Amino acid sequence: MKTIEPCTLVIFGAGGNLSRLKLIPALFSLEKAGRLPEWLVFLACNIEKRSRDSWIDDVRKIVMPLQSNGHGMDVIERFLARWHYHANTPGDATAYLQLQQMIEQDETFPPNAVYYMAVRPADVQGIIEKLGEAGLLKQRNGWRRVVIEKPFGYDLLSAQTLQASLYRHLDEPQIFRIDHYLGKGTVRNVMVFRFANILLEPLWNHHYIDHVQITHSETIGIEGRADYYDGAGALRDMIQSHLLQLLALVAMEPPVSMSAEHLRDEKVKVLQAIRPITQKSVNAHAFRGQYSSGTVHGKAVPGYLEEKGIPEGSSTETYAALKLFIDNWRWSGVPFYLRTGKRMADASSAICIRFKNPPQDLLRHTRTGPQRPNWIMLGIQPHDTMKMEMQVKVPGLDLHTRTMSLDATYRKGEEQSVDAYEGLLLDVMLGDQSLFLRIDEVEAAWRVVDPVIKVWAMERGFITPYAAGTAGPRGTYRLFDRDDQFWRQSLNLDGADLQPY
Ligand code: BG6
Repeated sequence: MKTIEPCTLVIFGAGGNLSRLKLIPALFSLEKAGRLPEWLVFLACNIEKRSRDSWIDDVRKIVMPLQSNGHGMDVIERFLARWHYHANTPGDATAYLQLQQMIEQDETFPPNAVYYMAVRPADVQGIIEKLGEAGLLKQRNGWRRVVIEKPFGYDLLSAQTLQASLYRHLDEPQIFRIDHYLGKGTVRNVMVFRFANILLEPLWNHHYIDHVQITHSETIGIEGRADYYDGAGALRDMIQSHLLQLLALVAMEPPVSMSAEHLRDEKVKVLQAIRPITQKSVNAHAFRGQYSSGTVHGKAVPGYLEEKGIPEGSSTETYAALKLFIDNWRWSGVPFYLRTGKRMADASSAICIRFKNPPQDLLRHTRTGPQRPNWIMLGIQPHDTMKMEMQVKVPGLDLHTRTMSLDATYRKGEEQSVDAYEGLLLDVMLGDQSLFLRIDEVEAAWRVVDPVIKVWAMERGFITPYAAGTAGPRGTYRLFDRDDQFWRQSLNLDGADLQPY
């Protein structure tokens, strides 16, 4: 186990949702697991002026319910004692100077520093600029790292502009572009599944695979994030980042090693091999929808346009689906279908791989119903499962077949799943960039979605509504190449039934 060097973790936007819901609980889990070094200090930065004690009271409220059996108050007290507070009030010209004095002169704070940008994307550049001007990014007496949340820019050009401004103060090894999906245990398992087993590798190509479906559906709406979400939409929010990363893990070649550079070299090659969607072909490759009011798990919910803070007549998509092709030897001609939606019937993320039918249909006379293909499915959440569907003989005198699901949950009863942020925060403090995005990956992902974004921005009228609590908008069948291809609606046996609409 690598050990973390003493460091100061500065969280900008410490009072915001990301920090309260994800970062503080993840840090507390690391504390409980004994993974934090003794000299590790958290510095919460937020715009309001308040005392250290009142901030610690807030943190206490967040972590008290997370205390588990066997961990006494001493763990909580040790965790709370690490926290300090700094008011970073807009317009206060001395705020960064004070920060600099704290970090560089006050011996409470270890000289190595991580600056976590848990702020609105629009604020990132300004903060880094100020940190740079105050000399807080110079690696004089220790290392300095910056963590930036997605979305990195809002299209290719803005991502490049943002990057150019970061390079004025930072080198690539200092920049940790986080995509929390890569920290999920089940997503990391895709790599283990592919590269620690030989069984499937000979089949993992266009000779045997018919198509790949990658789905992330949510029952939640925009959760009060109108400000961010209406400018982003589902394509930028989920597909440009999380779903394209999943595609890259499924489709990449085995890397030379599991080192950060080797892994990212292979992911970027796949992303760069995605056939560009021309503006003319956007409608054949992309579909968007927006939820209207409906019922989710028995509860009536408002439509997107009725959500607080959404401008009247907004054409932002809350559902997006893409058909992509990877133009390389392995994947030639295999469609990859990606979809995501908010306020859908179920919350589930999965990768479903459908295999081709055997070259001869020898059982066509004795079988009832159509030929059933093999599927391999990797459930990411809520259940971490691996399923494989195969055909077997129905017991009895006749040669009838049916589909059987080989079903494995790879977490054993007593094993706990860990939140994605726990591992990622550890990696930042350890300086391991394997699960963070390199700039060329981000650029390649923007190149994939940019033409769609452009056309959707121009054709604002063509957005298909879907009632909240359903499987999404009708009409997505037009993305599929053949009549016998359609979304799997679940990982259960009945989920393979085609339900185009
Ligand atoms: C975030 C998106 O990156 O991922 C959210 O901004 C989305 O809109 C979330 O809800 C989904 O992640 P998870 O881990 O909750 O499945």
